[in-house]
Amino acid sequence: MAIFISTSREDTQTFASEYAKTLRAGDVVLLDGDMGAGKTVFAKGVAQGLGIEEEVTSPTYAYMNDYDGRLFHYDCYRIESVAQAENLGLADYFDMGGICLIEWSQNIAPLLPKSVKRVKIKKLDENRREIEY
Ligand SMILES: Nc1ncnc2c1ncn2[C@@H]1O[C@H](COP(=O)(O)OP(=O)(O)O)[C@@H](O)[C@H]1O
Ligand SMILES: [Mg+2]
Repeated sequence: MAIFISTSREDTQTFASEYAKTLRAGDVVLLDGDMGAGKTVFAKGVAQGLGIEEEVTSPTYAYMNDYDGRLFHYDCYRIESVAQAENLGLADYFDMGGICLIEWSQNIAPLLPKSVKRVKIKKLDENRREIEY
């Protein structure tokens, strides 16, 4: 694991857009971190790095947003049970050839593939974040 210290929202986005270039089709990335850490900001940067022009917004209510089958961005904060996630078909996108970014993946832990990547974001202060990747 390596550490990057981000000093601003833009810094996180730029870092994430570079990180995106290390990803391969089918990669599943667990985005860990508390509320407000910067997981969704990181996802915006990944989309930018992948050349996705559509604006990435938090999928809090939809659970997952599909960007052209190239990026699947999940927010499982409000998932109430693994059965609910299964019924919603959330696991169906893991092997569709896009990149999956998952916020609050702990709520769907039994459904996750064996091989995943992890990015952990920790809030150091108002504008600084520790990104472990
Ligand atoms: N260095 C930084 N990296 C990312 N976000 C930052 C940073 N500094 C401040 N922020 C702010 O923190 C918030 C992160 O929000 P968001 O990405 O939605 O968090 P999460 O998805 O982890 O709940 C945003 O309001 C953003 O502007
Ligand atoms: Mg978020």
